[in-house]
Amino acid sequence: MGKEKGILVVDVGTTKICALIGEEKEEKLWVTGMGLAPSKGLKKGAIINIDEATQSIKNAIEKAQIQAKVPIENVYVSIAGSHIKTIFSSGVVALKEKIVTPSEVEEVLYSAQTIELPQDRVILHVIPQEFIVDQTRGILQPVGMSGVRLEAYVQLITCNRSNLQNLLRCFENLNLEVDGIIFQGLASGEGVLTPEEKELGVILIDFGGGTTDVVVYWDNVLRFVFSLPVGGELLTNDLAVGLRTSRKEAEKIKIEYGVCVKELVEDEEFDEVLGIGNRPSRKISKKILAEILELRIKELFELIERELRGKVF
Ligand SMILES: Nc1ncnc2c1ncn2[C@@H]1O[C@H](COP(=O)(O)OP(=O)(O)OP(=O)(O)O)[C@@H](O)[C@H]1O
Ligand SMILES: [Mg+2]
Repeated sequence: MGKEKGILVVDVGTTKICALIGEEKEEKLWVTGMGLAPSKGLKKGAIINIDEATQSIKNAIEKAQIQAKVPIENVYVSIAGSHIKTIFSSGVVALKEKIVTPSEVEEVLYSAQTIELPQDRVILHVIPQEFIVDQTRGILQPVGMSGVRLEAYVQLITCNRSNLQNLLRCFENLNLEVDGIIFQGLASGEGVLTPEEKELGVILIDFGGGTTDVVVYWDNVLRFVFSLPVGGELLTNDLAVGLRTSRKEAEKIKIEYGVCVKELVEDEEFDEVLGIGNRPSRKISKKILAEILELRIKELFELIERELRGKVF
């Protein structure tokens, strides 16, 4: 006892920072601390003010630490934003012993990463799409297979170097060394999807405050990911402009009464909206509220569809 070390994971979101502390006990990971803090210094998933972002991250971590009370040993952080891009690549190795070993799988995945990347790109994840042993395609677990040549087709999830450095700087400021970075969409996929869903085929949309991350799986493989610089904050802005009220009030109205399919709202439903400055509050129809939200949500789904068309369906 007293020797436990915590694993800290931090989701740096546009509207909130979420910190979790996990402890390994009896070969299981137990979440023993959780801290949420409003996010400042971020826009559309990217850090735009290091000091403000550092402070927000600190607030969330401190709350988690009050609950967990263990020293932090490892730190993992999520990253998002439209700077996340995927590149397809391949690698090949000769099989010396005429059988695929784990080290040859490592080697072929490494060779798939040795491509010329623009200077501002960093590889975050290497996602194998399929292995080919001699002429046999579509292999997911090649270890133990016989052959003379191993090929790998992979998807490289990359991010912008400066965006990553800014994120790491916040943790440096808190004297925390980051052990791993994970793309937020991938973390959501790993967190909420079942093996059956990944096998049958699934599109997961993580609709955040400043970004919308999309991940697509089929045949148990992550096939496609992207991150759009749009999210719930846009809906709030639309309401603030459309209803001529503050963003704070618009956010409250959205969460309490927001419906994004106008057919679902009765014409005579009304809600009180506070005016800006000295303007008196007034009643607005929930139908109008839904019309504003529906327009933006439709546009968002069209954007997602445009990205997916030709690649997924
Ligand atoms: N009940 C609700 N109805 C509608 N919108 C909601 C509701 N609850 C939260 N939201 C919206 O969800 C957004 C926040 O989502 P989330 O916490 O996933 O974002 P984030 O992780 O901080 O940001 P990002 O992942 O984009 O960087 C906000 O725009 C908020 O208004
Ligand atoms: Mg998020």
